[in-house]
Amino acid sequence: MKEGLLISDQRTQASYEIPIQDGTIRAMDLRQIKTAPDDFGLMSYDPAFMNTASCRSAITFIEGDKGILRYRGYPIETLAEKCSFLEVAYLILFGDLPTEPQLKEWVGQITHHTMLHETTKKFLEGFRYDAHPMGMLVSTVAALSTVYPEARHVQDPEIRRLQIMRLIGKMPTIAAYTYRHSLGYPYVYPDNELGYTGNFMNMLWKMAEPRYTANPALACALDILFILHADHEQNCSANVMRSVGSSRADPFLATAAAAAALSGPLHGGANEEVLKMLDEIGAKDKVPAYIEKVKAGQFKLMGFGHRIYKNYDPRARILKWAADRVFEVTGRNPKLDIALELERIALEDEYFIKRKLYPNVDFYSGIIYQAMGFKPEMFTVLFAIPRTAGWLAQWQEMVEDPEQKIARPRQVYIGHAVRDFVPLEKRSAAPAPVKA
Ligand code: ACO
Repeated sequence: MKEGLLISDQRTQASYEIPIQDGTIRAMDLRQIKTAPDDFGLMSYDPAFMNTASCRSAITFIEGDKGILRYRGYPIETLAEKCSFLEVAYLILFGDLPTEPQLKEWVGQITHHTMLHETTKKFLEGFRYDAHPMGMLVSTVAALSTVYPEARHVQDPEIRRLQIMRLIGKMPTIAAYTYRHSLGYPYVYPDNELGYTGNFMNMLWKMAEPRYTANPALACALDILFILHADHEQNCSANVMRSVGSSRADPFLATAAAAAALSGPLHGGANEEVLKMLDEIGAKDKVPAYIEKVKAGQFKLMGFGHRIYKNYDPRARILKWAADRVFEVTGRNPKLDIALELERIALEDEYFIKRKLYPNVDFYSGIIYQAMGFKPEMFTVLFAIPRTAGWLAQWQEMVEDPEQKIARPRQVYIGHAVRDFVPLEKRSAAPAPVKA
């Protein structure tokens, strides 16, 4: 059967046949729809990209209504159960799970790139004692662009691969340094004998002991958290990564931009906000009153709702399971009771049912991170470490896609038509805008 869309333009009575491929029409096919030869042609208007595919991607598949998430075809549940984070990062970046020798080589390469240049360390030392770790991370990742100027040759696959290894290797080091900085502790150099999460924990928490040994259950839980956060198709920060990368900016600068997008409270910053919210609620019996305020539109229930998942975020289900493993070691985080009560009441409430609002990944991740000893300001930094693999996979796919060009949306101009210029001495103040 031929796949096409018949459009009849009531302005001109002309009709057009627009091909449909993969459930989409090409926005550029609308341009032929004109009222006159000098008409610009029809555009589509889609603020916040609610219904616009910006790329063809083979990395992550999400079916929001069914709560499905797969990386390169593998269900997230299977990957979280059977793989390490670096194995998943390889899968996301290169398309297939690594063989044993490939994994060994990959882990060796990432481990080799964990060190920061001493000048980068000094750069970090220059931040104020109370600087937000996410601001430090964003700036330091951008600063790496000055350390590796060859990174700007984004069309060279070998150079690209080297920067990918550098970024994945250095991200935990930068993250750990931001944490130590906020506590006033000396930075701890990476230990190449340790695995990815074990080494990260070493750089975070080693004090005077000759060797830090991470609790294996906590290292395993952190690895699972990293897998769950590794990619999430065209989310706000991935879109920024592609958009900034499309100008051929180097991957350090594009990753810094993506991390900046992640820091916002509606995106990765939500897990920090969830903890603030649970603190504000304070006790289980205060939950109903808080929910009433949310329903009255006073604020949003942080960690609830998702642009794509309208059933359940599958990552939240795995996180609930991981939380129990962590609490066996750390003791139960009392915030969990408030969170569970919030979830219980919200899921029975007509307001949330009607709007299909369910807990998202951020609802539980913060509670786990806090039980592990992290301050809320670190939560988004912890999100950025694994998401770097996803950003780089999205960036690489974009660079290699012959259909992609510099990203540049159109606009519907709603400003003034041409105006007569008024000299300064003849201008009168415009009336103040009326407050709603
Ligand atoms: N609490 C209360 N009401 C909500 C919430 C919430 N968390 N989320 C959405 N709604 C309501 C909206 O007010 C709106 O109601 P209305 O139809 O009466 O106007 C309706 O549900 C639809 O919401 P939108 O804002 O249109 O949904 P959108 O897809 O644009 O937003 C988002 C998704 C940003 C995640 C939103 O649900 C939100 O702000 N959640 C809280 C922040 C959060 O947890 N972010 C993390 C997202 S996951 C991630 O980035 C890792």
